[in-house]
Amino acid sequence: MINISALAAAAAHYDAGDPRRVQHFIKVYGYCRLLGLSEGLDTHTQNMLEAAALLHDIGIHEAERRHGSSAGPYQEQEGPAVACPLLSAAGADESEIERICWLIAHHHSCQAGENTDFRILLEADFLVNADEDSLPRESIASARERLFRTDSGKKLLDDIFLSEPYII
Ligand SMILES: [Fe+2]
Repeated sequence: MINISALAAAAAHYDAGDPRRVQHFIKVYGYCRLLGLSEGLDTHTQNMLEAAALLHDIGIHEAERRHGSSAGPYQEQEGPAVACPLLSAAGADESEIERICWLIAHHHSCQAGENTDFRILLEADFLVNADEDSLPRESIASARERLFRTDSGKKLLDDIFLSEPYII
């Protein structure tokens, strides 16, 4: 089993000085944890999903350094090499590293797979980005149809973003 708290500390250390990135991956981790538990993932898949959530954007700094851009394809390209030693230090074995690096390398490619762990990572990232990027309601509604697969992800999206707005 991967030591999630050690991995979170290592990821925060890697992104030191960039609170926006650290807060982002902690939020995505939180949604992945909740959605994975709600969808009944087995313990091993849940553990790998949580690790992938912490590291899904770990390629951003390297993408910015090498390509001058944090665009999705560069993140996907640079992420696995950065993630690999962090995962190894947190106790991941070779097959776990392979799966987690696949998740990292495809988290901007929403057609890449239908496994529940992958869909939850996409949904969790969207739930966070919808707020951080102040996405308009129409974009969120369209993502619900296009991107979301799990019942718990759709329910959270509806409750947070698509219900009647709370007004004092
Ligand atoms: Fe993200």
